[in-house]
Amino acid sequence: MIITGPALLILLGAAAILQAELLPDEKLLLLPPVNFTIKVTGLAQVLLHWEPNPDQKPRNVNPEYRVKINAPQEDDYETRNTESKCATMLHRGFSASVQAILGPGPSRLASSWVSAELKAPPGSPGTSVANLTCTTNTVADNCTHLRPYQVSLHCTWLVGKDAPEDTQYFLYYRYGSWTEECQEYSKDTLKRNIACWFPRTFIHGKGRDWLAVHVNGSSKHAVIKPFDQLFALHAIDQVNPPLNVTAETEGTHLSIQWEKPVSAFPTHCFDYEVKIYNIRKGYFQTEKITTNAFVSVVDDVSKYYVQVRAAVSSTCRPSGLWSQWSRPLYVGE
Ligand SMILES: *[C@@H]1O[C@H](CO)[C@@H](O)[C@H](O)[C@H]1NC(C)=O
Ligand SMILES: *[C@@H]1O[C@H](CO)[C@@H](O)[C@H](O)[C@H]1NC(C)=O
Ligand SMILES: *[C@@H]1O[C@H](CO)[C@@H](O)[C@H](O)[C@H]1NC(C)=O
Ligand SMILES: *[C@@H]1O[C@H](CO)[C@@H](O)[C@H](O)[C@H]1NC(C)=O
Ligand SMILES: *[C@@H]1O[C@H](CO)[C@@H](O)[C@H](O)[C@H]1NC(C)=O
Repeated sequence: MIITGPALLILLGAAAILQAELLPDEKLLLLPPVNFTIKVTGLAQVLLHWEPNPDQKPRNVNPEYRVKINAPQEDDYETRNTESKCATMLHRGFSASVQAILGPGPSRLASSWVSAELKAPPGSPGTSVANLTCTTNTVADNCTHLRPYQVSLHCTWLVGKDAPEDTQYFLYYRYGSWTEECQEYSKDTLKRNIACWFPRTFIHGKGRDWLAVHVNGSSKHAVIKPFDQLFALHAIDQVNPPLNVTAETEGTHLSIQWEKPVSAFPTHCFDYEVKIYNIRKGYFQTEKITTNAFVSVVDDVSKYYVQVRAAVSSTCRPSGLWSQWSRPLYVGE
């Protein structure tokens, strides 16, 4: 192995410490961090915190840390800090370990691990909500010039299969440091909440943070288990269809034009799909394009309808869903 740059400096640094403060045949022993705690700092969010070991010798050893999340989902990363924030579901509990590490590669020193955990919140099995799904949608904001777009949120779920009839559910979302409780629920015939609508939220139209959703509940007959889910915005964003679609034929040329959908993303961030349906022959053609216009050669005795749909392209965020098709526009004889 060839060691260069900062890695070499760290290695030399560790060697210098060894020479300065330890006898030649004494080995540097890395002690594990102390006072490792896991604190819930928000909905589906925890802060891991630890302190360097006060008994570490020599005193000027400056270790980094390796953090291992054991549950609910395994993860593993390194940091120079003595704390770390994680977005994670908490309804099945949470557990993590941390160790001190020093130096690069195979000569790296590592302390033993220290661990901490959060217990799963109480609740009877089968009482938490199931099949929680959420979608977001962007609307133009008529009221203020501060934010030209607003993001709405809609979530639905199924009542837990063993939840008592008097169960009531409550939904909360967190985006960044903002948390809100649902104000507009839809109910089933037993008046239990089964869907929620936020006409406006703190979600950012071009945001990349996780959306955390928490649904808990209450009943006179059972403790209702809460449920958390993290959503990636690109995967749940219901993109609006393109605006102002027009189509006209001139001889055998069919030209179609449209505007970008209502969206916080700029014009260059969209992919489109155009569908041209030949009504007389009963078949259609679809084309994928990245501009706002399309010309096709058609047979001038047929009648057609035209639809366009949009998606945010992968140059602007990870790919997600197509919009609905625009309303059909009829052209031709
Ligand atoms: C660890 O916690 C104990 C008890 O709260 C405290 O007395 C001690 O100073 C802490 N150690 C460090 C290094 O922060
Ligand atoms: C709920 O989700 C489960 C597991 O993903 C699925 O098998 C089931 O069909 C869903 N139920 C409904 C009513 O959508
Ligand atoms: C803006 O106005 C339109 C039409 O009047 C309405 O449908 C839409 O919900 C309004 N948007 C907001 C964010 O209030
Ligand atoms: C549900 O969760 C919210 C947010 O964490 C909390 O304020 C509320 O007390 C919880 N309600 C129940 C019934 O557990
Ligand atoms: C759509 O057409 C209407 C009426 O012609 C116009 O006022 C509006 O600005 C157009 N929208 C876009 C996004 O170009």
